[in-house]
Amino acid sequence: MKNFYVTSPIFYPNAQPHMGHAYTTLLCDVLARYHKSIGEETYFLTGTDEHTEKIIQAAKTQGQEPTAYLETIVERFKNLYKKLDIAYDQFIRTSDQHVHWPGAIEMWKRLSAAGKLEKREYTGLYCSGCEAFKTEKELINGLCPDHGTAPEKVTEQNWFFKLKEFGPQLEQLITNDELCIIPQSRKKEILSFIRSGLEDVSFSRPKDKMTRGIPVPEDPTQTMYIWVDALTNYITALGFGRGEELMRFWPGIHIIGKDILRFHTVFWPAMLLSAKLSLPKAVFVHGTIISNGKKMSKSLGNIISPYDMIDRYGKDGTRYLLLRHIHPFEDTDVTWERLDEWYTADLVSGLGNWVARVMQMASLHLDAPVDLSDRRAPYSVAQWMDKFEFHNAIAALWIDAAHIDGIVQEQKPFEVVKTNKKQAQLQLTYLVKELSRLSESLESFMPETAEKIKKAIRENKKPENLFPRLID
Ligand code: ME8
Repeated sequence: MKNFYVTSPIFYPNAQPHMGHAYTTLLCDVLARYHKSIGEETYFLTGTDEHTEKIIQAAKTQGQEPTAYLETIVERFKNLYKKLDIAYDQFIRTSDQHVHWPGAIEMWKRLSAAGKLEKREYTGLYCSGCEAFKTEKELINGLCPDHGTAPEKVTEQNWFFKLKEFGPQLEQLITNDELCIIPQSRKKEILSFIRSGLEDVSFSRPKDKMTRGIPVPEDPTQTMYIWVDALTNYITALGFGRGEELMRFWPGIHIIGKDILRFHTVFWPAMLLSAKLSLPKAVFVHGTIISNGKKMSKSLGNIISPYDMIDRYGKDGTRYLLLRHIHPFEDTDVTWERLDEWYTADLVSGLGNWVARVMQMASLHLDAPVDLSDRRAPYSVAQWMDKFEFHNAIAALWIDAAHIDGIVQEQKPFEVVKTNKKQAQLQLTYLVKELSRLSESLESFMPETAEKIKKAIRENKKPENLFPRLID
């Protein structure tokens, strides 16, 4: 059986989960469900990146201890995923000393054994928002472009990873798609970054600056840099460093936002090459959700809460809006006004209405539920899913759904029934079979709606209102 392993980033739990987190994790969920539906053995990993110093401040503002604070936020993430039917197989927490730490330590030892680590004194500009050192040329007017804050100048003793020497190898691997980066625009971006010359990077920080992380093996004065620890989660979750029981799933596919492209396509592959492990099958980099022209982010405070979306549009309404209307490769500007318009046009007047119309007639004019034993296979979305074109996959299903409604308009079973009940019954049986086919095709994208349509067909009843009208 073919394996399919997909990962989301592990998110910083220093604030409430937002739409961006929901979006990335939803894409993973849809891919995992889709690959399972075509018979593959799938594994889907998500989790939280807990060794950021930002937790301490965030906990303090809430009047909580960091551990208690983390529990609350982790529950919020899990609860959000539950509300969105995001069915991960494992939720990893980097603070988990049993699951995560042994593999992170093993990775460090392999980097060290390969001669890729060296202790040096270093002066640099550290952005605590990015949890990364920044070079002068990455700053705009002295400020971090992502966080709008000035990084702090620090001088310290650090372990350095000899990233510079990986430049030519990474360039070749990425150019040949042996390390596959999707879409092309991100592949080009990272190639030009590599060609501009890689620098060695600090892979540890003094313990007093990083109080929360994993101690460096055999150097207790130092703590592993958060990204070394965090990136390794993709294999520690599979048992790397502690039995390897799920390592058969490696290599997998990483789904990330473009803000963390370099970490996943430069640092991480260089670490894997040093540790003699396979490179990821692909790194898919989705676009950023912006709101009124600005990146939606915790630091900027312009977040549309996924909880508010779920309250307004329901579980599958939210899944649909994110999948269909957030462009998987480019930035998308989202406002409540636009979300409302899309919801009403595509779901209330679209799918909800089309399904209700067919099932209303079927329940009135068919004597029994339709026998589905000879129904046709679900619509194939492979051509879209293989290219991470989630929006096109779901748009194609909407064309199929609209086609079903088109048949209703054309054949008018509601008229035919007045003069030729048998003929109308034949028409309705065909329509219900098509609806059943559609519901199967929708399973990976909108599992609850798919189930509601199936239930309506099984019971030969009009379903409950799938997508209620918005009242304000
Ligand atoms: O970077 N639009 O965690 P993080 C779309 N812990 N996606 C967005 C988004 C937006 N406006 N904002 C965030 C970290 N995201 C590290 C990751 S992985 C080994 C460690 C999503 O909480 C997107 O996936 O800052 C982005 O890459 C990620 O959240 C950053 O999450």
